[in-house]
Amino acid sequence: MKKAFVIGHPIAHSQSPLIHQSWIAEHGLEASYEAIEIAPSDLAGLVARLRGGEFVGGNVTIPHKEAVMGLIDEVDPLARRIGAVNTLVADNGKIWGTNTDYIGFLANLDAQASGWDEALGSAVVIGAGGASRAILAALVDRGVPRIELINRTLGRAQALADEFGPTIVPGPLSEIGSRMAGAGLLVNTSAVGMKGTQFNGLDLSPLAQGAVVTDIVYTPLITPLLAQARAEGFASVDGLGMLLHQAVPGFRAWFGVAPAVTETLRNRVLAAL
Ligand code: ATR
Repeated sequence: MKKAFVIGHPIAHSQSPLIHQSWIAEHGLEASYEAIEIAPSDLAGLVARLRGGEFVGGNVTIPHKEAVMGLIDEVDPLARRIGAVNTLVADNGKIWGTNTDYIGFLANLDAQASGWDEALGSAVVIGAGGASRAILAALVDRGVPRIELINRTLGRAQALADEFGPTIVPGPLSEIGSRMAGAGLLVNTSAVGMKGTQFNGLDLSPLAQGAVVTDIVYTPLITPLLAQARAEGFASVDGLGMLLHQAVPGFRAWFGVAPAVTETLRNRVLAAL
């Protein structure tokens, strides 16, 4: 019996068990995937259980994504660059960690808006937190020539630009209108638009015709930003796909099977939100 987990604090809201358990059933595997509530003081103990062979690996979510890096044997270069680990794999008593948000973000755009990066002149990214780091790395590696990084706190955007390279141009929220001019991709990585937060409405008209608008928030699935993008004729990509696609590499590493992100799975998770 191969066992995997998702750890966090809190963890009750996580959709990861539903995703992985669906794949386990689909492939008829002798395996389990469970959510385990782990307080920060218990993180080292959980890592010791993983090292001891109780589990084949697992996912890591808030607030452990940074702290776990200091407790494992190897952090891959991508996770080190992003500064967070969300997937652990046990391999012969050693534990390595990676970050699958990067690939989840790209795979979701490729699936829902194929060709999004062809002839893309510039992209606008809103937010400069942890999620933004994975997305900036992904966009830089895909060769997006210019990334306007807009954040409420300009200093945080400036710090990310210094870190992720000269194609990233930081700016304050007040400049978002001018920074959107001609952009072919708009990504919201900030909490704005999530259930319970305020969204003041953006003028999307400066974006390039046919631009893709995506939000990493998926509660609600159609955020106010995505609703507005749809109404104004832009392509919209919801954040649920990123959640599904980021789960693929872990499942493959733990159980040796490449799972598929299907409409059935998407609907199952959607019903549980
Ligand atoms: P995550 O890891 O999900 O990216 P985070 O590190 O807390 O979360 O980052 C949240 C992002 O949302 C930040 O860019 C934050 O802006 P600040 O850097 O200025 O704090 C942004 N954010 C959160 N609430 C916001 C709001 N009400 N208006 C504008 N930006 C907001």
